[in-house]
Amino acid sequence: MGQTKIKDIYFASSNSNKYLEIEPILRQYGIVSHFAKMSLQEIQSESVQQIAEAKCTNAFDYLQKPVIIEDDGFYLSSLKGFPGQYSSFVYKTLGNQGILKLMQNRADRKAYFLSVIAYGDGHTFKIFSGKTRGMISKLATDGGWGFDPIFVPENTIKTYGELSLLNRKSFYSHRHKSIEKFSKWYIKKRLRYRNR
Ligand code: IMP
Repeated sequence: MGQTKIKDIYFASSNSNKYLEIEPILRQYGIVSHFAKMSLQEIQSESVQQIAEAKCTNAFDYLQKPVIIEDDGFYLSSLKGFPGQYSSFVYKTLGNQGILKLMQNRADRKAYFLSVIAYGDGHTFKIFSGKTRGMISKLATDGGWGFDPIFVPENTIKTYGELSLLNRKSFYSHRHKSIEKFSKWYIKKRLRYRNR
């Protein structure tokens, strides 16, 4: 593994907002991370897991260092799960106002976010996921990025956007759940490696 310490890890993504949310959680677990800004090839697949696996392989091939990538999906109940794995494209084309328009006059405003984290180091490959259920708000609020202004997670009346402004998004976040699962596993793996 050359100069790379076992606890050093790369987070590969084109989206620095994700890294800003992930880094403090990794740090809490004593995991040193680095942001590798790059666009990763996205394969066409129905499965977020398969997309994450392909992205992770792509990132490892390039970096040759232990790496994690994240793939997310945003699923609206009344639209039968749309946009799901097409969330990124839909965000760029319709935006939050477009989603609010699609939801007009719909009684069922349930939605959820899914975060899939994939880890690869050339020997081990592993996937971790986190899901947060909630509702689509009536209006877009301030704060956050992506769909944050229109998503109200369960157990609060605030959107991810408003929670971000209060530094509280991580208490509810799908990303927090998946990264926490990864961190617990990674720490154990590191201990096993050290004890060899
Ligand atoms: P991807 O993983 O970059 O393909 O993410 C899919 C889409 O979901 C993107 O349009 C993101 O903007 C959006 N997204 C993912 N996570 C979040 C989040 O925590 N808040 C708001 N939007 C998100």
